[in-house]
Amino acid sequence: MTPPMFTPFSLRGLTVPNRVAVSPMCMYSAEDGTPNDFHLVHLGGFAMGGAGLVFTEMTDVDREGRITDGCAGIYKPAHVPAWRRIVDFVHNTTAAKIGIQLSHAGRKGSTKKMWEASNEPRDDGNWPLVAPSPLPLLPHSQTPREMTKADIAQLRDDFVRAARMADEAGFDIIELHFAHGYLVSSFISPLTNHRTDEYGGSLINRMQIAIEIFHAVRAVWPDRKPISVRISAVDWIDGGTTIDDAVEIARLLKKAGIDILDVSTGSVTAEPRPRLPGLFQTPFSARIRREVGVPTITVGAFASPHEMNRVVDNGEADLCMMARGHLYDPFYTRHAARALGYKGLPWPKQYIAADMFTSPWTLPPPATHDRGRPQLDDRREVLGPTPQTLVGSQDNGS
Ligand SMILES: Cc1cc2nc3c(=O)[nH]c(=O)nc-3n(C[C@H](O)[C@H](O)[C@H](O)COP(=O)(O)O)c2cc1C
Repeated sequence: MTPPMFTPFSLRGLTVPNRVAVSPMCMYSAEDGTPNDFHLVHLGGFAMGGAGLVFTEMTDVDREGRITDGCAGIYKPAHVPAWRRIVDFVHNTTAAKIGIQLSHAGRKGSTKKMWEASNEPRDDGNWPLVAPSPLPLLPHSQTPREMTKADIAQLRDDFVRAARMADEAGFDIIELHFAHGYLVSSFISPLTNHRTDEYGGSLINRMQIAIEIFHAVRAVWPDRKPISVRISAVDWIDGGTTIDDAVEIARLLKKAGIDILDVSTGSVTAEPRPRLPGLFQTPFSARIRREVGVPTITVGAFASPHEMNRVVDNGEADLCMMARGHLYDPFYTRHAARALGYKGLPWPKQYIAADMFTSPWTLPPPATHDRGRPQLDDRREVLGPTPQTLVGSQDNGS
C-alpha cells in the first residue's frame, strides 16, 4: 500500500506527486532581489531530494518590501529570467512542482540579516517602512509610516505585477504570505492594526486588504494554477488573533476563492512564542480544514515520516510542510521512502544508480499516537486560550 505521504494531491490543474512540501525559508543571499547560483542549488536540491512541492523563500513584491538587502524579490524585469532558470531546472530534472511565496515585509523591513541580528535595524542605509499603523517592531526600530489609501492601492498593484512575473517565470503555484507580522498580516492582527478607517476595526475590515490583494492576483494568475495563502492562525498573545478568528479568516478566504490555506502561527510581534511539544500547529490546520472545508497545509516541527502519514491519513492537512528538516536533510523525502519501503519515488535519471546503495539509515517504529485513526485532537490543549507560560522562542523565521 502507498504510504499516505506518497499519494498525489491536486488543486486546479496542478498535481503534486506527494504530500511533502518545502516550507518557504529566507536565505538572505540575493542581490537587489535577484536569485543566483545559491538559490538554484538550494531549491534545486530540495526538488532532487524528492519533495513534491518546493516553495521559494518569501519573495518581495517591492524593493522597499524586503526584510534585508539580501532578500529575494520579484519586482524588476531581470528577476523573471533569474527565477525562470530555477523553475526550469526543477521542471526539467525532477517530478517536483515549484511555488513562489509573495510578500511585503512592512514594519519588519530594513533589518540586518538573520546571522547578523534578526529583527535589528540596519546600522545605515535604511529604507522607509510602511504599516497599517505607526508602531515600531522593537522600541528602537524605525517607526513605519501609516499607509494611505493610495499606498494600499499601490501595494495591491505590486502584488499583481509580481504575480504576472511569477507566471512568466513558470511557477506552478503562488503563496500569498499573510502571516508572521509582515505587511498584510499586520493589517489582520488587532495588535498591529489600530486604524479607524475601512481597513481597521472589525475582523472583516482588517481582512479587507488581504481580500483585495487576493482578488487582484487571482484575476491575473492563470485559472489552471492554484493560490495558497499563509496565515498566522493565532498570535499567541492576549488581545491578538485566536483560533476562532482564524476559522473566520479561513471562511473569508475560502469565499474569496483560495485553493489551500497554509496554517502557521505567531511572529506578529517580536515577543517569543510558547514552546509546545510535537506538531503544535497541526491542530489549527485540522480544525480549520474540518470546520471550514478548505484544503490546508500544516507546518511546524515535523520530524518523522510517520507523523506525515498520520496527518494525511487523519485528514489533519492535505500537505505537510517542513522547513528546518529540509535544511538538515534536503533528501528527506527519499530517505523516508527508503525507510518505509516505498519504491514509487522516481530518481532523476542521472541518479538512478542510487537505488543500488544500501542505506544505513533506519526509521524507528511509529509512536503510539502516529499509528492510526482517530487522533485528531491529541493535542487539543493548544486550541484553548493563549497559554500562560512563554518559555522562549520557537522561531518561525519569516
Ligand atoms: C531559516 C528560516 C527562514 C524562514 N523563512 C520563511 C519565509 O521566508 N517565509 C515563511 O512564511 N516562513 C519562513 N520561515 C518559517 C518556516 O517556513 C516554517 O514555518 C517554520 O520554520 C516551522 O517549520 P519547521 O519546524 O519545519 O522548521 C523560515 C524558517 C526558517 C528556519
